Amino acid sequence: KSSLSTSWLGKTVKVMKTVDSTNLEARRLAEAGASHGTLVTAEEQTSGKGRRGRSWVSMPGQGVWMSFVLRPDVELENSSMLTLVAALAVEKGIKDEAGIDGKIKWPNDVLINGKKVCGILTELSAQMDELNYIVVGIGINANIGQFPEEVRDKATSLLLETGKSADRIKLLCRVLEYFECDYEIFKKTQDFSILMEEYNSFLAHRGQEIKVVRGNDEYICKSGGINRRGELIVEDSLGRTREIFSGEVSIRGI
Ligand code: BTN
Repeated sequence: KSSLSTSWLGKTVKVMKTVDSTNLEARRLAEAGASHGTLVTAEEQTSGKGRRGRSWVSMPGQGVWMSFVLRPDVELENSSMLTLVAALAVEKGIKDEAGIDGKIKWPNDVLINGKKVCGILTELSAQMDELNYIVVGIGINANIGQFPEEVRDKATSLLLETGKSADRIKLLCRVLEYFECDYEIFKKTQDFSILMEEYNSFLAHRGQEIKVVRGNDEYICKSGGINRRGELIVEDSLGRTREIFSGEVSIRGI
């Protein structure tokens, strides 16, 4: 259905034709006092932002480009897990609306057939250990028919994978509904104890060798699932278990 059945997420919404970045707009609204759950969407982003200072290709009218403001009553140290909640919501939303199974590449990319269909950029504002607000930005490549050459081997869209164009409104509604529901579950325990099993069932590279990259340091290990703190459990070549925190680590399938 094309209507939104959340109770607080996306109840205040700013729909824009074009914006620099919905994350930047959501941050401006948050600075001006926007309430918990305020949503920004745009048809086009002229400077969509990715993680690690990269840019995000956001063709007009072809994707779901959205960001929402959270003023969560969760501890600062637990707030990075909200990005995993978002990945889980996108995964389930895509399954419902495009009928296709994605995989989550920890912590928060959604892949289809090994290529990225969604990216999530979470930014937070805090003062003296007190969380002020969080902006969760979600980009879903819904109906992109062709990607620029330089990302073609890494990126995909629902259209390219299913051969059908996705209903962006329905997709957006489902993702927000799943997020709101899982956010409430997360908030109770402020960890992934309840959501972990479901998240792990969607995890890419589980039981496979991956390369963990931390700055100049790289190592190969076997990927397990996440634990209740949202860390990825891996086994190194000597059979030792390590838990990796999402901070500045990236993983690659090999
Ligand atoms: C990444 O994988 O690098 C994160 C990409 C996040 C893209 C989305 S699109 C909507 C929101 N606005 C932005 O400028 N970025 C996020």
